[in-house]
Parts: sequence; structure tokens; C-alpha cells
Amino acid sequence: MAPLHWVAIVLSFVATIQNYAGHMEASADIGVCYGMLGNDLPSAPEVISLYKQYGIEKMRLFEPNTAALQALKGSNINITLDIRNQDLADLAASQDAVNSWFNTNVEPYLNDINFNFIAVGNEVIPGSLGGYVLPVMNYLQKILDDKNLHGIKVTTVLPGNALQSSYPPSSGAFTSEASSVLSGILSFLSAKGSPLMINVYPYFAYASDPTDVRLDYAQFTAKSAVVRDGSLSYYNLFDAMVDAFFAAMEKAGRGDVGVVVSESGWPSDGNGNFTTPKLAGTYNRNFVKHITSKVGTPKKPGAYIEGYIFAMFNENQKPSGVEQHWGLFYPNKQPVYPKVLHWIALILSFTATIHNYIGLIEVSPFNGMQ
Ligand SMILES: *[C@@H]1O[C@H](CO)[C@@H](O)[C@H](O)[C@H]1NC(C)=O
Ligand SMILES: *[C@@H]1O[C@H](CO)[C@@H](O)[C@H](O)[C@H]1NC(C)=O
Repeated sequence: MAPLHWVAIVLSFVATIQNYAGHMEASADIGVCYGMLGNDLPSAPEVISLYKQYGIEKMRLFEPNTAALQALKGSNINITLDIRNQDLADLAASQDAVNSWFNTNVEPYLNDINFNFIAVGNEVIPGSLGGYVLPVMNYLQKILDDKNLHGIKVTTVLPGNALQSSYPPSSGAFTSEASSVLSGILSFLSAKGSPLMINVYPYFAYASDPTDVRLDYAQFTAKSAVVRDGSLSYYNLFDAMVDAFFAAMEKAGRGDVGVVVSESGWPSDGNGNFTTPKLAGTYNRNFVKHITSKVGTPKKPGAYIEGYIFAMFNENQKPSGVEQHWGLFYPNKQPVYPKVLHWIALILSFTATIHNYIGLIEVSPFNGMQ
């Protein structure tokens, strides 16, 4: 109880500063994916309260779930909303189909929820549904343009296997199948200033090859460079994976497109001693630290990259093994690694405070004193 009480005090202090700062908007770079594949999860309003309690201001929703959208109204939690893969074929068939999807799933909430991104499909490129993505993106963009909804960006989510090569990072290149689908998508993203979403899992690389992939490299804890690639030094696998995507986009002629890490995480159980609460907590703490420090990557220092942790809860309706154990929380809302969760709550509120403070300095008459 004591640490939570402390978090509550800090959060209210932050809220005070935010009110004081008035128009200064906090911008947290960390979100959490709200996966719902469990039959024992808390109700949507309880889930939203849990996000608020831990200072998490962004959510990725894998489908336009009505209960979740209703509960999000007025919460000030910004969302990334996915279009379900199984809906892509129907939606790609006509503007009318996408209009109707939008009218049902977005329009009714526009006044009460900030939609930051609409993600057209999750990990469908490369794959048989890949060809539906760009037509749906275009139809959606037409709606957003017609309604002057310029704050909502349209994108799609790529898996690691969209890359044919990722080591060393500078060799990063899309598979030929992904390339042919992505050329139109990347020009769309470039023209609209939208980032590409990528799912980045150092865990899988480590777990599939623990003799060659060092644990400290996978967990952001290496004290010296582990991989050198030309003039660039890599201390963590996460950066290497992100830079492989940047290299691939550059080769596709779209080095100007940014990325959002739409999923990353580490399971706390399900695969022996590779998956413990301690390892999962260490990864997620360091992921939050890395993203909120805004250092970018060796290839793109200072690049703005927001990141979403997968996932909020352990989900018992996913396939067994590690799949069921990605959660920050158990279904009973208890944190899987309490100290790390309290630390995350603090860092998120401090980040918000510092942003506000910097905002105040920028507009203050004492600017010259810096
Ligand atoms: C939420 O979205 C609004 C509108 O796009 C933006 O101004 C704000 O900075 C966002 N906040 C966070 C925490 O992302
Ligand atoms: C897991 O156990 C094996 C065998 O005891 C050991 O070699 C390895 O270092 C352990 N891995 C971790 C991550 O603790």
C-alpha cells in the first residue's frame, strides 16, 4: 500500500502542475496494448482506471471494442485503433464500406477520445491480406481529409519478418514480397507524414538463439558495445532491430518515414528461465527508460520514437506457453512485477512534469537565463 500511496501523491502533484501550466500539454511517449484475449479480464472501466492509476496515457486497441471505446470517453487516454485483419478484404472493396466502418467505430467518439493513429491491419505484410492495406488506407484518408481530421494518422503494423535481412542493422532490407506491397504504402506514409508501425521483440531473437544473442544485449543492460556496424555501435538489440527497419526504408527510397514501436515486451512465464517476472520487469523498465529518454537510435540519433508495451494483461485465451504471459498485470489487476510498475508510473509522471516545466521555461521571460 505504501508505494502506491506515494504514487498517488506524486500523480496528484503532477496534475496540479499540469493545471497550473494550463495549455502546456504533457506528451508521454509510452503506451500499453490492451489485449482482450482472456475470459477473466476486468471490465473496460476498471481497465481504464488502471491505466490512469499508473500514469499510462496511451493505449493501442486491437479492434474497435464498443465497451472499451465507451469507457475511454473523457479519459484523456489517447488511442491507436486497429482495423481487424479479418475485415480488410471487405473494407478494401469500396469507399462505402470504409465510410460505414468509420461511422460506427470512430465518428461517435470523436468529441470524447483523441485518436492518434488508425492502424490498417496488424502484421499482414508479407501475407495474403497485404494487398488490401493500401486501398483501405486511401479510403480512410479521404474520410479524414473531408472532415478536416488532420490529427489522426493512418498507418499499418509490420512484423519483424517483413525484413529479409536485419543483421548487421545496415543490411536491413524488406523481403521481395513485402517490398512490392510496401512501395505504395511507404509513399502514402511519406506524403502524409505518418510513421510506419513496427513490432519489435528482442525476446524472440534471444529465446531462439541464446548462445549467440547475449541476454544483456537483449535487455538493454550491456555495459559496452556488443555489435559494431560501420561507424555505429550497438549496446542493445532493440536499437539494432529498429535501425534494420530504417535501413530497409532507406533502401526503398523512403528514409524520411518515421517509426512507432507498436509492440514490444517480454513474457514473465511460459519458457523456463528465459521468462521470469524479473527478466520481464527488467526489459520493460529499460524499454520505458530508452523510449522516454528520446535518444533515438545509433542510425537516427534523437529520432522521435514512441513505444507501446505488449501487453496490459496476461491473456488466458491465447495459445499456451509464453503467449499467455506478456502482461504487466494479472487479470486480478495485481502487477506482475510491482516495483517496476511503480517505477514506470513515476517515470511517466516525471516525464510529463518535465515536459510541462520545459514548456514553461520556453514561454517564460527568463528564457535568456538558461
Ligand atoms: C494526445 O493527443 C492529443 C491530440 O492529438 C495531443 O495533443 C496530445 O499531446 C496527446 N497526448 C499524449 C499523451 O499522447
Ligand atoms: C537458464 O538455465 C541455464 C541452465 O542452467 C543457464 O545456462 C542459463 O544461463 C539460464 N538462463 C537465464 C536467463 O537465467
